[in-house]
Amino acid sequence: MKLCIIGSGYVGLVTGACFAEVGHQVICVDNDQRKVDMLMAGEIPIYEPLLEEIVHKNVAAQRLFFTNSIEKGVDESEVVFIAVPTPPQPDGSVDLSYIERVAREIAMVLKDYRVIVDKSTVPVKTGEKVAEAIRRYNRKGAPFDVVSNPEFLREGCAVGDLMKPDRIVIGSSSERATALVKKVYEPFIAPVLVTDINSAELIKHAANSFLALKISYINMISRICEASGADVEKVADGIGADKRIGRSFLNAGIGYGGSCFPKDIAAFIAISEQLGEPFELLKEVQRINRTQSDRFIGKIREALWVLKGKKIAVWGLTFKPDTDDVRSSVAIHLVNHLMGEGAMVRVYDPKGMEKSQQLNLVPGASFASSPLDAAQDAEALVIATEWKEFTAVDFQELKKRMHTPLIFDGRNLLDPLVTRQFGFDYHSIGRR
Ligand code: UGA
Repeated sequence: MKLCIIGSGYVGLVTGACFAEVGHQVICVDNDQRKVDMLMAGEIPIYEPLLEEIVHKNVAAQRLFFTNSIEKGVDESEVVFIAVPTPPQPDGSVDLSYIERVAREIAMVLKDYRVIVDKSTVPVKTGEKVAEAIRRYNRKGAPFDVVSNPEFLREGCAVGDLMKPDRIVIGSSSERATALVKKVYEPFIAPVLVTDINSAELIKHAANSFLALKISYINMISRICEASGADVEKVADGIGADKRIGRSFLNAGIGYGGSCFPKDIAAFIAISEQLGEPFELLKEVQRINRTQSDRFIGKIREALWVLKGKKIAVWGLTFKPDTDDVRSSVAIHLVNHLMGEGAMVRVYDPKGMEKSQQLNLVPGASFASSPLDAAQDAEALVIATEWKEFTAVDFQELKKRMHTPLIFDGRNLLDPLVTRQFGFDYHSIGRR
């Protein structure tokens, strides 16, 4: 099929590349000419496993194209996906101005029937507004349908998530549009759930907030484990073995971050309030998440007594492993907090250092060339992101390099028994 994706950010680019990979003809539109030039030159603006390979392969096969022209994209496609940012506003609600602008721009170049699919994460009832905006600016009166098709891909495994999804949600009120979007997804073997537009939009917010709730739940359990001498991993295994609960997203740590959960939970609270049904439970989820990293810093302070002047190594800057994304990363918050109390912090991250430096996210921190380099003469080591590479470090060498063998593992990445065998004083989350 001939498809257009407007917005070449995380979701747009991965979606466009995967659609091309299964044989569709895809035009990716972005209004940032620099990004378009970069992509045309074969450069990928983000790090995401497998993405570069499939972009190169499909550009070479002439199935994937990049342009800054919405008109070209809309003219040459049967289905037009909107994948532009929906950033948060100070009150937690979502800034929908990018979506509104794209809706107007599509309307102004619309000549024949098109299905306009919203893939961006939006509050419930946005689809109705998109349809209204298109109707208003659609001077030629061209027919169209609006569909909601939320994405569920995770950074770090986005290509796999898109190629083998758990489900595909199509929110639509038109049989013609539903049939076309179903056809787009035919090559992907996954259950398809057809709903009305509002339900599809709600599924996305409800899914993300439920996952965030699971994380805050286990983080709260980790506190009770610490207070009672239990082990959070054993508890998570025990409750996760119940199929109704499931083990995933029950990993205790220093809290969730990233460009999705914090924003989506705030947006869901905001829309629930606007609809007159305030979602108080999610406020507690936010509170637990906020205080989880503060408690962790408290543990470091308790062990080191005074942080001022202490040399601390931090492994990890990205909000999770296998990505270079440092947006709303708890690791970044942690580094700045430690420095705020006067610690001298040396950081290492396999993929997140370039963006942290470019955006000046950890001013005052020094950047190391390897995990061992970061730990040189350190009085404590903090693990803030669970990169696999950190488990492969030579722990004997690590101990030699550190001034004091003290580890604070904020992601329960290491085995407490092993670290103790090497002679480390090891602290983690909710484990003895
Ligand atoms: C999340 C959802 O998982 C995706 O399904 C969704 O499509 C995406 O948001 C989105 O809305 O676009 P993502 O933010 O990429 O994906 O990453 P996750 O793997 O969900 O992790 C989010 C945060 O939760 C990370 O900071 C991670 O460290 C933390 N986390 C995750 C935990 O602390 N414990 C866990 O058990 C799992």
